[in-house]
Amino acid sequence: MDCLQDWPEPVVRVQSLSESGAATIPARYVKPSSERPGAEHATSEGAAGIPVIDLAGLAGDSGRCRATMRAVWDACREWGFFQVVNHGVNAELMRRAREEWRGFFHLPMAEKQAYANSPRTYEGYGSRLGVERGALLDWVDYYFLHILPESLKNHDKWPAQPASCRETVEEYCREVVKLCRMLMRVMSMGLGLDVGYLQRAFGGDDEGVCMRVNYYPRCPQPDLTLGLSAHSDPGGLTVLLADDLIGGLQVRRGHAWVTVRPVPEAFVVNVGDQIQVLSNGLYRSVEHRAVVNAEEERISLAFFYNPRSDLPIGPARELATPDRPPLYPAMTFDEYRLDIRKKGPRGKPPLLDSGLHAHDLVV
Ligand code: OGA
Ligand code: NI
Repeated sequence: MDCLQDWPEPVVRVQSLSESGAATIPARYVKPSSERPGAEHATSEGAAGIPVIDLAGLAGDSGRCRATMRAVWDACREWGFFQVVNHGVNAELMRRAREEWRGFFHLPMAEKQAYANSPRTYEGYGSRLGVERGALLDWVDYYFLHILPESLKNHDKWPAQPASCRETVEEYCREVVKLCRMLMRVMSMGLGLDVGYLQRAFGGDDEGVCMRVNYYPRCPQPDLTLGLSAHSDPGGLTVLLADDLIGGLQVRRGHAWVTVRPVPEAFVVNVGDQIQVLSNGLYRSVEHRAVVNAEEERISLAFFYNPRSDLPIGPARELATPDRPPLYPAMTFDEYRLDIRKKGPRGKPPLLDSGLHAHDLVV
């Protein structure tokens, strides 16, 4: 693992590039033309956008509850993405969490540098994913931290400023974990599995949680680069708190990129690779990316709800039939994520792209 000890090149903060006022971006950030934001047809979200699901329906009468669950199941199968409103997490807490992190990224550079991360754990203040020398980079700085299990949590690696940041992150985490556990129950039922199946597969109460706070500074040439290159999320479920007003997230739909319209106080939820594997391909972990803009910085909090990292994760036996044999080999999440940590976001792992999906036939 020696290659993961340190970055191959001096780290450049994207925020510093942005604040330098230069009119052009360095070549390291210029994507090949096929990957640039305008290169593929981008559909803006209208009738065909990712579903927005009102989770208040789960507490409604049985018809409404069933319809709400069905909306989640359909979204997991067809889109791999949905937004949720009335999700139970306090809107003021969401706003506070985002503003604490804005406060961090607005600290003087020297204070932030004290938290500079390394590729060994990625924990801390970072500006690249992957350790390949000469790799093209994304227009983003980030902060990555481990929240669960407790044994991996190290408050010394969390920002000491803003002063209430640690406490807010803890409170935010407790609330979002509740939401994830609830979604895991609904999602288990949609596979015809026992309601606790997915949670048990994740290690019960020993699930892993980490968070990546993305800071996308203003970019003088947003058409040439990406804030985050196309990738699928390697973990279980992602709950993204994006900006209430400024969009940037795009989701792959066939050959198009669908721009996600911000819905105030909503979360964007997506299926990660581990749930695609457990569901034997019935739920889909879908590629997505972030674009940047010249006018406004954008902050997003990606909350990653993952299996305990040393448990083998493979297709549920109940979902493997003679017609549909297990599509993926079992492996632990620790093994699985080694590749992305070395190479950075590189689309969807080929191993997971092999299954045939109903969706691919219609788009
Ligand atoms: C991520 C991610 C999208 C965004 O952090 O994995 O996909 O809009 N973020 O920031
Ligand atoms: Ni992602």
